[in-house]
Amino acid sequence: MTQDTDTAARVAHAGHMTTIVAIPGSLRDQSYNRLLIHAAEELAPPDVRIVTYNIDDLPHYNEDIDTHQPPESVAAFRKAVEDADAVLIATPEYNSSIPGVLKDAIDWASRPYGTASLMGKPVAYITASQAPSGGTSAQADLKKILERARAHVVEGPQVAIGLSPSAFDAEGRLIHPQARESLRQLLQNLADVARQRARERETVRSEA
Ligand code: FNR
Repeated sequence: MTQDTDTAARVAHAGHMTTIVAIPGSLRDQSYNRLLIHAAEELAPPDVRIVTYNIDDLPHYNEDIDTHQPPESVAAFRKAVEDADAVLIATPEYNSSIPGVLKDAIDWASRPYGTASLMGKPVAYITASQAPSGGTSAQADLKKILERARAHVVEGPQVAIGLSPSAFDAEGRLIHPQARESLRQLLQNLADVARQRARERETVRSEA
């Protein structure tokens, strides 16, 4: 990319809000991972908008219904991921892995093969879980799954919150200073990757 086209692409993109779709991996109303998404809303850079997408209406993945006209909820979910600049997953660990509902959602977004909404999409993940490790086994599985789906996994700093009283206050606000700083930095990194990708796509379009 030449300096001129780089600048043009930057200007073309200037002023745009970066949209991050946040997916809670827990369906529970009082979910700590939903609280983590609230913390992300609070700590995101000012030009980043976080939009929560609930995955509870997605059916179990089934190739028989994954046709050119998939269920409405699937089409809507795929479009939300497609339209987003980046995705943030906030999930608990279930039995040392990710909850089945989240795996289902990722499976839907990983198809059709080759044109899936997750392909090349910048994705970061954060976890809050009961074990002191805070969900690192779920994170390892998520990384493997997302890479297989050819998402662009944005790693670090790691946010894995063990559910101790020092993590959230009585109102459900994330209060652990190190966790807040790591989440702030992770969101910045995710937004930076998303903007770089948007600039590259803008340049390809303008050169076409
Ligand atoms: C759990 N939990 C759990 N925690 C953990 O750290 N490692 C694990 O392997 C598991 N396994 C597990 C399995 C199942 C089926 C459930 C329901 C729970 C506990 C889990 O971390 C805790 O319930 C969290 O509070 C769930 O996250 P939300 O719903 O608060 O976001």
